[in-house]
Amino acid sequence: MANEKNPMGPVITNSLIKRFRKSIVWLYIITIMISIPIIYLVTQYQVHAESNKELTLMLDMVTSIREYISKDVRPDLIEAKMFQSPAMSGTVTTSKVASYFIKRQPNYYIKVASDNPLNLKNMAEPFEKKLLDQYREDRKLDEIIQIGEINGNRFLVSSRPSVAKKECMVCHGDPKSAPMPITSKYGMTNGYNYQDDSVVGTINLGVPLADVNTLVIQRGLVAVGIITSIFSFIFLIISALVKRSILLPIANITEAAVVLSKGNLEQEINVKRDGSEIGELAHSFELLRRSLKWTIGQSKG
Ligand code: HEC
Repeated sequence: MANEKNPMGPVITNSLIKRFRKSIVWLYIITIMISIPIIYLVTQYQVHAESNKELTLMLDMVTSIREYISKDVRPDLIEAKMFQSPAMSGTVTTSKVASYFIKRQPNYYIKVASDNPLNLKNMAEPFEKKLLDQYREDRKLDEIIQIGEINGNRFLVSSRPSVAKKECMVCHGDPKSAPMPITSKYGMTNGYNYQDDSVVGTINLGVPLADVNTLVIQRGLVAVGIITSIFSFIFLIISALVKRSILLPIANITEAAVVLSKGNLEQEINVKRDGSEIGELAHSFELLRRSLKWTIGQSKG
């Protein structure tokens, strides 16, 4: 506006405040672009860590059930010759507990799977058959943890092999000599003729993997919100500061210089001398004005 009134005045095409604002906007964009991939990695790590923790808990629970059966329950049953009791086998108990657990926690996956099961509900799914194959190929393998998709949902799955031993044969051996309650309930075709020391099943536990992408979008939006508020705040503060401590004093000095250039030596340059570069510049201008005034007064006189 000063320029319209005064064509000789300064022409500001690249204002300092605009440059400051541009840098803040760029800094904002760069911060957002750096944060999103970091949020992605951290979220992925957290999701896996949480699932791992839950998996360990469930594994410990299942292992404890089996330990309870073998130490506290089975010896008495064997003594009483109650071979048909489901509590004879940790595997059966696990499979029973699993069926109740899954009713309460349908998001989890727990199954004792076999490709030759007594109970057809325990028939191995394709991915469980692959696990069985892996255990049969490498007998030293005692645990596989992997991310798997079951019925369209992603799980962190841990599996352990179930190996037949002599004591299993009471029920899983020759169907003709199997206890009556077993054969009448499950029939005589499948779930029998286990070979000693062979892998007959896998115990699989799956905890649901939260959808990393949905979480990243949620957390990303929160982060973008926070970063935007912080930057808006910085933007306002810096704009106000630059205006107050740089632009206004410079405009004053510029105006004074224009007045001075027109030969008016009376108008004082009124900028506070606050120790800053601009304060000093203004003060030097004021000294210049005074000495000009003095010199001209001298030569007139
Ligand atoms: C007291 C009889 C009995 C004994 C002993 C026994 N099981 Fe079982 N087992 C069963 C019954 C009954 C089921 C079916 C449980 C169900 O309905 O889910 C079963 C189920 C299984 C399953 C799940 C697949 C299927 O057949 O339905 C596996 C694997 C298994 N047993 C392995 C073993 C192993 C290994 C041993 C020895 C360490 C063993 N069992 C000992 C009775 C027994």
